[in-house]
Amino acid sequence: MKVGIIGAGQLGRMLALAGYPLGVEPLFLDRTSNTPGAQVGKSLIGDIADPAKIAELAALVDVLTFDWENVPSKARERVPAAKIRPCVRALEVSQDRMHEKTLFRLLDVPTAEFAAVDSRVDLDRALGQIGLPAVLKTRVLGYDGKGQAVLRTPADVDAAWEKLQGKPLILEDFVAFDRELSLIGVRGAKGAMAYYPLAENVHSGGILRYTRAPFRNKALERQAERHMRNVLRHFEYIGVLAIEFFAVRGRLIANEMAPRVHNSGHWTIEGATTSQFENHLRAICGLELGGTAPRGHSAMINFIGRLPSVACALEEPDLHFHDYGKSARPGRKLGHCTLMAETAARRDARLKSLLRKFRRQGAEL
Ligand SMILES: Nc1ncnc2c1ncn2[C@@H]1O[C@H](COP(=O)(O)OP(=O)(O)O)[C@@H](O)[C@H]1O
Ligand SMILES: [Mg+2]
Repeated sequence: MKVGIIGAGQLGRMLALAGYPLGVEPLFLDRTSNTPGAQVGKSLIGDIADPAKIAELAALVDVLTFDWENVPSKARERVPAAKIRPCVRALEVSQDRMHEKTLFRLLDVPTAEFAAVDSRVDLDRALGQIGLPAVLKTRVLGYDGKGQAVLRTPADVDAAWEKLQGKPLILEDFVAFDRELSLIGVRGAKGAMAYYPLAENVHSGGILRYTRAPFRNKALERQAERHMRNVLRHFEYIGVLAIEFFAVRGRLIANEMAPRVHNSGHWTIEGATTSQFENHLRAICGLELGGTAPRGHSAMINFIGRLPSVACALEEPDLHFHDYGKSARPGRKLGHCTLMAETAARRDARLKSLLRKFRRQGAEL
């Protein structure tokens, strides 16, 4: 099978690497040849928003998928819908936080209160409805906490408006969560569904810093799987889908979804029977899904802004190191590592000492 991957970032790269053992041949499309993906697979060079380029890629492969969900729908018009997995509709909904949250509500998936904001008058009205604290976000193209402002007091409102005005916005209730969790699910071409265990995510400055899995809580697992099932079924989805949740007093509130493999699922490369990358490929290629059970207890640490040396990381015998082959820049995800342990307590102790070690070396953690 030949799989076209729109966007050749680290997600595309890890998809490609998971595909080779299955005989899946990747072909990327991205703007330059200087990408994480191009180091491990063939690349077409072109604008990922160009319909002609996407049609050219589609003609060369059996199925098209994404490493980045923000490709404009116009760019995909010349490709038969059946060749795009997951479906265009799921991509469109997840591109806009208003559409995403509206769909969650429709499917009985709880969300924070939210309102669309297109003017200063809207903002004041939305604040009247939602109150403070709140989060003002751009509806489209936000990632890693970019395009967001937290409003804690009335004095924050003007600054947030100054920063974000001019784009379609959404105001959300600020959720005082107990923890952030995510669920990664996968639906095969014939409708089979599988879920990884819940993962617990710690963000700072809007960027995922580390993930621990499995996070065991039967009641929350049941809720998360029900929400995931509703969304997968709604779209007749094919591939991997991630949903990010806030856990508040035993209840899950959905924050956002990603119609693709997800940073909080990188631990599955070593920590689960089948990785999220392999399962995404199995699904979009019409193959049987692989097992999603955890192998022990994993923690994944993102390397942001600066990568520790491979030699230093590999002093730790239980650590798996992933370098995405990117040049360093503050706030940029350059790689990650996953550590595995036999018990949750042992994993947590190791995680603590590793975070200390990487911080000492100047990592942004
Ligand atoms: N409504 C909210 N209440 C509390 N924290 C929030 C809220 N929205 C976002 N955050 C925090 O900011 C992080 C990034 O926001 P998110 O909506 O996931 O956007 P992104 O697309 O940048 O990942 C979240 O993981 C969470 O830590
Ligand atoms: Mg997020």
